[in-house]
Amino acid sequence: MNKTKHCILNKDAANLQEIPDGSVSLVITSPPYPMIEMWDEIFMKQKPEIEEHLMTEPYKAFDLMHDVLNDIWEEVDKKVANHGFVCINIGDATRTINGHFQMYSNHSKIIEKFVSMGYSVLPDIIWKNDKCPE
Ligand SMILES: C[S@@+](CC[C@H](N)C(=O)[O-])C[C@H]1O[C@@H](n2cnc3c(N)ncnc32)[C@H](O)[C@@H]1O
Repeated sequence: MNKTKHCILNKDAANLQEIPDGSVSLVITSPPYPMIEMWDEIFMKQKPEIEEHLMTEPYKAFDLMHDVLNDIWEEVDKKVANHGFVCINIGDATRTINGHFQMYSNHSKIIEKFVSMGYSVLPDIIWKNDKCPE
């Protein structure tokens, strides 16, 4: 039987120097979702200027949150092998800030970033659990 080696890196995904460049065939990840309130703090810790804009210029805050993710996507890109796959679990956000309801389209931002890095977009996969409760 083939043996596999598993290594857990508990660290900022924007710096994956332990992983050789071009060595990863498949990345599966679920990042924090920009503009979903439960992830605000984690984005602000990584980019404190987000806090200044969140209530006054929320779209600017949204862009800054994606800047945090974009640093990670650039690091992921370095590690992915030619013809490798990147699967990202992401949802869009809807939010009312100062009485203004808006959608923040996270999937569009991520697709735009990967296209800019030369990736081909594949169809979305949406999961639905249709199992009946026991
Ligand atoms: C949507 S959750 C995913 C949770 C995970 N899939 C699970 O089932 O536990 C996003 C996770 O990304 C982590 N995170 C945020 N910024 C990160 C970064 N720069 N590097 C690595 N992980 C980060 C958060 O701490 C959080 O645990």
